[in-house]
Amino acid sequence: MREVMSRCSLRARLGQSLSRQVRTTHTGRVAAVRKDSSAVQPFSEIPGQWKNSVANLYKLWRMDGLRNIHRIMVHNFNMYGPIYREKIGYYESVNIIEPEDAAVLFKAEGCFPKRLRVEAWTSYRDYRNRKYGVVLKDGEDWKFNRNVLNKEIISPKVQGNFVPLLDEVIQDFVARVYKKIERTGQNEWTTDLSHELFKYTLESVSHVLYGKRLGVLSDYIDPDAQHFIDCITLMFKTTSPMLYLPPALLRHTGARIWKDHVEAWDGIFNQADRCIQSIYRQLRKTPDADEKYPGVLASLLMLDKLSIEDIKASITELMAGGVDTTSITLLWTLYELARYPDLQEEIRAEISAARDASEGDMMQMLKMVPLLKGALRETLRLHPVAVSLQRYITEDIVLQNYHIPAGTLVQLGLYAMGRDHRIFPHPEQYRPSRWVRSQSHYFRGLSFGFGPRQCLGRRIAENEMQLFLIHMLENFRFEKQRQVEVRSTFELILVPEKPIMLTIKPLNASR
Ligand code: HEM
Repeated sequence: MREVMSRCSLRARLGQSLSRQVRTTHTGRVAAVRKDSSAVQPFSEIPGQWKNSVANLYKLWRMDGLRNIHRIMVHNFNMYGPIYREKIGYYESVNIIEPEDAAVLFKAEGCFPKRLRVEAWTSYRDYRNRKYGVVLKDGEDWKFNRNVLNKEIISPKVQGNFVPLLDEVIQDFVARVYKKIERTGQNEWTTDLSHELFKYTLESVSHVLYGKRLGVLSDYIDPDAQHFIDCITLMFKTTSPMLYLPPALLRHTGARIWKDHVEAWDGIFNQADRCIQSIYRQLRKTPDADEKYPGVLASLLMLDKLSIEDIKASITELMAGGVDTTSITLLWTLYELARYPDLQEEIRAEISAARDASEGDMMQMLKMVPLLKGALRETLRLHPVAVSLQRYITEDIVLQNYHIPAGTLVQLGLYAMGRDHRIFPHPEQYRPSRWVRSQSHYFRGLSFGFGPRQCLGRRIAENEMQLFLIHMLENFRFEKQRQVEVRSTFELILVPEKPIMLTIKPLNASR
């Protein structure tokens, strides 16, 4: 623990000098504040609606605001400017949009960064007496668990273990799509791919975490696996309505939504319990049986640095957070590529050149596809999984000339930032090249969060999505019948408001 603390204080000192740099280098406004601190406005002067939290909640409810949180944030930034304060139900925050303010925010996140808690999730854990995993833990307990998990999940050293496992899954997925096309008898398949993508990402993440296949890409799906899929969907659906109401109240009144939420998490944990038990049994029978990478869970069990209950809790959270996030991002990417056929062709050409140059070495190939990677970043700019990033600041800071006291919850509006023309020129255009060419990306590419609390599954997600696009674009062309704009709706993460219909054609037949 002493090691953690000393690194933290070093970081804090570095943070202070860095933040001084930030404040004098990147925004004239903040620099001016530094020179004349009497100009700083008090917290109470921040514009916004924070005086009547119950009325605000009621208003939100009446405007169907729960499903439109992201658009309401854009509206509020247009109305109040780059900073506003709000209080809805029982939570209160200061909301910001500018990259320079994001830099100041993250420098004040402290050694144990803490974001907004999803009370529905912690309430379930408390209700069932289950441990919190890395998503829900805070403080030193979080740091200790996260350090161990980082080495097994996000460090560059382990990426080579994941790629062959993920590659196997996408190859099966391509074969499945060919089969579906064949069955139509029309040499093309028009469909809403969301369920198929969900199965692809579920199969991928479980292969990496458990080292074994769930088997959801076959025509017959094991009922347990199907139940798990249904539970994840139900868990997300029931979470967002509980964001602004205390789950304890819903629990005590026996509300349907709370019961559904409990049922969903029970299903998710039961599935994880079954997988963990089977792997544990296997490990006890044949330790070190072969050289093959056994998956994250078995590696953690063998490492023996975390308790089994801690491992179980984090693996379950990784599983729950690792499916919709990537499947929806892939769906949006295919939607955008179907809208821009020339761009689709350009990325296909990049993949073909990379395949030739790397002579089939997938790890090499992944280093040679910058436009494809730009496409994923561009998708996440326009359709971020998370509407905002949040931190409770650990020291007083100044944002947009207002004093923000330590302990305040500050939210960076990711969706609003991605669509702001002052931050991204022509934000309405899907332009992956903006991430390749030399524009400043300073605190702009934050879709996976930032710093030590950033997305733990980032590398898995990136590899899984890059491999998907490589193989799918090498085999198929994606088209969209009508140029209808599809909007997103908030269900804890942002999902398409209506089905996205795509036509998939085998490449060699349509050439
Ligand atoms: C497109 C895919 C994904 C996106 C955009 C995404 C985005 C995010 C964001 C924004 C956060 C909060 C970060 C912060 O507060 O700074 C986060 C946290 C997290 N994500 Fe992801 N995520 C994705 C996929 C995944 C996958 C595939 C997994 C698991 C395999 C995963 C596991 C996690 C975990 C465990 C955390 C919590 C980390 C902590 O609190 O220490 N995510 N993710």
